[in-house]
Amino acid sequence: MTGKPILSAHDIKVRFGDVSVLSGVNIDIRPGEIHGLIGENGAGKSTLGKVLGGYYRASAGRIAVDGHVMDRWDTPTALQNGVAIMHQELQLVPALTVAQNVYLGIEDHRRGVLRGTESKRLETLMAECGLRLDPRAVTADLTIADQQKIEILRALARKARVIVMDEPTSSLSKTEVDQLHRIMRTLRDEGRSVIYVTHFLNDILDVTDRVTVLRNGKMLHTTDTADETKETMVSAMLGGVKSETLYPPKPRNHGTVMLSVRDLQSPNGTQVDQLEIRAGEIVGLAGLVGAGRTEIARAIVGADPATGTIEIAGKPLTKRTIRAATQAGIVMVPEDRRGQGLVMTLPVRANISLPHLDTLSKTGMLDRSAETSLAKRLIDRFGVRPATIDGDVSNYSGGNQQKVLIGKWIADKPRVLILDEPSRGVDVGARETIHQEIVRMAATGVAILVISSEIDEVLGLATRVMLVDRGRIVDEIDPDTVTETDVLAALFQHQSTKDIVA
Ligand SMILES: Nc1ncnc2c1ncn2[C@@H]1O[C@H](COP(=O)(O)OP(=O)(O)OP(=O)(O)O)[C@@H](O)[C@H]1O
Ligand SMILES: [Mg+2]
Repeated sequence: MTGKPILSAHDIKVRFGDVSVLSGVNIDIRPGEIHGLIGENGAGKSTLGKVLGGYYRASAGRIAVDGHVMDRWDTPTALQNGVAIMHQELQLVPALTVAQNVYLGIEDHRRGVLRGTESKRLETLMAECGLRLDPRAVTADLTIADQQKIEILRALARKARVIVMDEPTSSLSKTEVDQLHRIMRTLRDEGRSVIYVTHFLNDILDVTDRVTVLRNGKMLHTTDTADETKETMVSAMLGGVKSETLYPPKPRNHGTVMLSVRDLQSPNGTQVDQLEIRAGEIVGLAGLVGAGRTEIARAIVGADPATGTIEIAGKPLTKRTIRAATQAGIVMVPEDRRGQGLVMTLPVRANISLPHLDTLSKTGMLDRSAETSLAKRLIDRFGVRPATIDGDVSNYSGGNQQKVLIGKWIADKPRVLILDEPSRGVDVGARETIHQEIVRMAATGVAILVISSEIDEVLGLATRVMLVDRGRIVDEIDPDTVTETDVLAALFQHQSTKDIVA
C-alpha cells in the first residue's frame, strides 16, 4: 500500500476575506488507501475536501496528480482526473428522481439525445454495491439517510479514482455504515482511494489505513492508523486536552407528567398507544434508520397530521399545529439543519433570536441589546466558531451550524423538548457540551425526548428507552442494564420479525 501518491496537495492555503481557513496544509493520497481526515468542527476538513474536488480555489499551494503538478484545478478538471467528492451538506436537486440525481451531469447522451437509461444503469450500480433505493422516487420525498445514499451512489457512478467522503455516515444506520465500509474496502482493493472525513473515531480505527489530523487550519500530521488510538487522536485534535467521554449523571428526580400521548396515529404509519414523559425525565427513542422515530416526533408536535390525544402538563392540546404546540411549551429541534433548522440567509444573531422574539421584544420592538447578549452567551457556551454574532451561518462548518441550531432552542425553557439527532456532525468537545446542556435542562424540570441513531448516546442520556419499529413502540428497556449490542440485537430481532411477516 505504499507507492507514489495519486493525488497530493502541498502547502495549500485558503482564505475567506481576511480569515485564513487553511494555512499551509499537505496531504498525499496513495493509490488503494482509505485515508481518514479528522479534526474539530471548523478545523478545515470540508474546505480541504472542496479544494481537492476543485470546488474551492486555493490562494496558494500545488495540486499534483500522479506526481504531475496541475496548472489548473477546478471541478471539471478534478472529475477528469478521477477525483469526486461527496458533500457534507447534501447537494441534491429535490425535484429530481434518485436516478436523475445520481447521473446529473453525466447523463447518457448519444448523438445528442438523452437516452433515459439512468434507471437501468442505477439498478446495476446498486446491485454491485448493495445499496437499495427506488430509482424513480423523487428525492424530496426521501429521508436524509436515503438522500445520503444518493450522494454515495453519485460518487460511485463517477468511477472516481479518489473519492472524498465528507461525513457520509452522519445519518446512516449501523448496517448501512457497515455496508459503506465494505464499499470502501472494495474500492481500496481495486486500487482506488477514499478520503474519509468523520467524527466517529471508531470508524477511523476500523477502516482507514492512514489518518491526517487538522487543527485550526493547519496540518498536524499523517500517521498509520495502526499507530493511533482513540485517545491519541482526540488529544491531537484538541491540542493535548484530554476529553472525558463519560456522560453526565442522569437526573433521577422526576416530577409530574409533562407530556402524555395516547392513541397517536398518523397516515404515514405512526401508531403510539401510550407515551408519558415526566418533568425532569429524559426518554430516548432508539430504532434502526427508517423505523419511524422522526415521524413519531413530528406527529407529536403537529408537523405532520395525526389523530389522538396529546396533553402538555395535563392540558390537552386541541389545535394540532406547530404553532399551537410551541405555545403550549413543546419544542422540537429537527435533524435537518439546512432544510428545517436554520435560516441560511440570516446571520447567527437572528437565527438564535428567532424562537425568542416574544421574550426579546419590548412593546413590539426587538430589544437589540438583549438579542446581542443572548447570542453572545450561546456562542460562548457552545464554542461556536467563528465567534461573531453577525456571522453568516451558511458559511459555517457543519458542526458549528449544529451548535447554533441546538443553542437557539436550548436558550428557552420549554416544558417538553424533543431533540432529533442532537449531536450529528459535532466534534467530541461540542458533543459533551450538548450532553451537559440536555441534562441541565432536564434537571430544571424540562421533559425531554431524545432521538439518536447512536445507541450509545440514547443509553448514556436517557433513564428509559423505547425501541421503535415501523412507527410503533415495540419495547421499553432500562438503559442502565443493557449494552449497545443488546439493543442492536433487539432492534434487528424486531426487524427480522417484520421481514418474516411481510
Ligand atoms: N465559504 C466560506 N466563507 C467563509 N468562511 C468559510 C467558508 N467556508 C468555510 N468557512 C469557514 O472555514 C472554517 C473551516 O470550515 P470547514 O467547513 O472546512 O470545517 P470542518 O473541519 O469541515 O468542520 P465540521 O467538522 O464542523 O464539518 C470554518 O470556520 C468556516 O466558518
Ligand atoms: Mg465539515
